[in-house]
Amino acid sequence: MTRAAVTASAPGKAILFGEHSVVYGEPAIAVPVTQVAATARIVPAARGSGLSLIAPDVKQSFSLGTGPEQAPLVVAARLTLDHLCASIPDATLTVESSIPIASGLGSGAAVSAALVRALAAFLGVSLSPADVSDLVYEVEKIHHGTPSGIDNTVIAYERPIYFVRGATAGPDLLSVGAPINLLIADTGLPSPTKEVVGYVRTGWARETARYEALFQRIGDVAREARRRIEIGNVSALGRLMDENQSLLVHLGVSSPTLDRLIDAARKAGALGAKLSGAGEGGNMVALVQPEAVDTVAAAVTRAGAVRTIQTEVA
Ligand code: PMV
Repeated sequence: MTRAAVTASAPGKAILFGEHSVVYGEPAIAVPVTQVAATARIVPAARGSGLSLIAPDVKQSFSLGTGPEQAPLVVAARLTLDHLCASIPDATLTVESSIPIASGLGSGAAVSAALVRALAAFLGVSLSPADVSDLVYEVEKIHHGTPSGIDNTVIAYERPIYFVRGATAGPDLLSVGAPINLLIADTGLPSPTKEVVGYVRTGWARETARYEALFQRIGDVAREARRRIEIGNVSALGRLMDENQSLLVHLGVSSPTLDRLIDAARKAGALGAKLSGAGEGGNMVALVQPEAVDTVAAAVTRAGAVRTIQTEVA
């Protein structure tokens, strides 16, 4: 059968509330960030050539069947073919991404989601968000070890979500009562999710009661934030982001660079600010009124941010 070329994409994401505590069963809130994306394009290749997977940004290239089996691109393609009960097509799939790597913006999950969608569409199948999320979750286990599942979920559904690990009914898609303007700023330092999640686990094993109290307080913040988001009480979210950040500092996952950017954003008029994702490095996210976006962006850039992204959640 002759197949046509297909392109599919997936957005980045930011966690607004509840990172880390979400791994321990508390709720978290995440939003898609459509200003950055991963895109996969698959084109037919000569008969018998098999499936080539190419990621020029990270200088990776695999041929399915001969590539390292644990490479995320290979695993994503294999899982998709298994899910569809399809044999390896003759095609070349190229995946590119404008999402900074290892920075808490979901680059790994978005690359996998774009690949899964493109490969399925090439084979004539449009996968549901739930299927994309499940397939990407399996790939995420390679990057993260014990991922909560929040990244694959928000990226597959492309909607703001209220996420509880293991919830059987699937994610709650949030209705946003009033637009939320965010300024995301990158420290330029890597945010090694697996490592930071590992430090938190070590701390939790050593001081279980203290960590669980912190997780629960972060969970309370996320529950309150959900209510505020749904009724459109945006101004209250700033205080909740600040409270979440101070609890993350107590968990030990912030860093001097993140603290500096967060402080600069607040002083320049942000309503609240916190790290987003695993922490240590990566990105921070600030809640800003639309008229203050440029001032806050200039302030965090002066404080050392290597890039800023403005996004509106609606
Ligand atoms: O992938 P990151 O860096 O956005 O981190 C995900 C958030 C964590 O809660 C730290 C880990 C997880 O699996 O939920």
